[in-house]
Amino acid sequence: MTEADFLTATRTFYDAIAEDYARLFEDEMARRPLERAVLRVFAELVSGRGPVADLGCGPGRTTARLAALGLDVFGVDLSESMLAIARRENPGLRFERGSMLELDLPDGALAGAVSFYSSIHLPEDRLPELFAEFHRVLAPGAPLLVAFQAGDEHRHHDRPFGHPVALTFLRRRPDDMAALLTRAGFALHSRTVREPDPALDETVPQAFLLARKGTA
Ligand SMILES: C[S@@+](CC[C@H](N)C(=O)[O-])C[C@H]1O[C@@H](n2cnc3c(N)ncnc32)[C@H](O)[C@@H]1O
Repeated sequence: MTEADFLTATRTFYDAIAEDYARLFEDEMARRPLERAVLRVFAELVSGRGPVADLGCGPGRTTARLAALGLDVFGVDLSESMLAIARRENPGLRFERGSMLELDLPDGALAGAVSFYSSIHLPEDRLPELFAEFHRVLAPGAPLLVAFQAGDEHRHHDRPFGHPVALTFLRRRPDDMAALLTRAGFALHSRTVREPDPALDETVPQAFLLARKGTA
């Protein structure tokens, strides 16, 4: 099967910028107390119930945080360059190449899943398919955490860090994302929206939706 154009564009973009991205966000968890808190809540909802996937793990910083919280976690990403960094920085953790739209996992295999800023390049009309795939691979009652920039506008990043690549970053409305999750069979646990932090060069709020796969 050939890769969809938007996946090729995403993979090419992150392959090119992986080292710069990893350097820019080197201490990201230390500077984001709310993110750490949300991940702690997620970890408590999972605790002791089996494997957890960090989907679109990038350099694996969220994966490492979840492992430190005691979870049996592994990362999945499209970009080999991102995976190389994740493996280099976290030699004890497992990172696999794959698309979160088509995960190489049996139905109900996961005790939890996180998508931290990894759905932000997906065309709007592919979100139902993404959430259906998350729903398929999660066990009944298992939590899902989705993080994204809140808003309406799209931002096109051309030649990031001087590399000859470009990609569109899509902001989403938390209410729209919550409705899509509900439609996919998730029960919303909480929606957290953090104001932009100028110290982090943020200009829009950051949204964290925590949901659970229905048990029915
Ligand atoms: C903005 S980065 C976020 C990385 C990491 N989650 C973090 O918070 O630092 C987006 C990541 O999602 C990955 N990604 C985007 N679409 C994906 C897909 N369909 N399947 C797997 N990974 C994907 C990209 O390769 C990239 O590493």
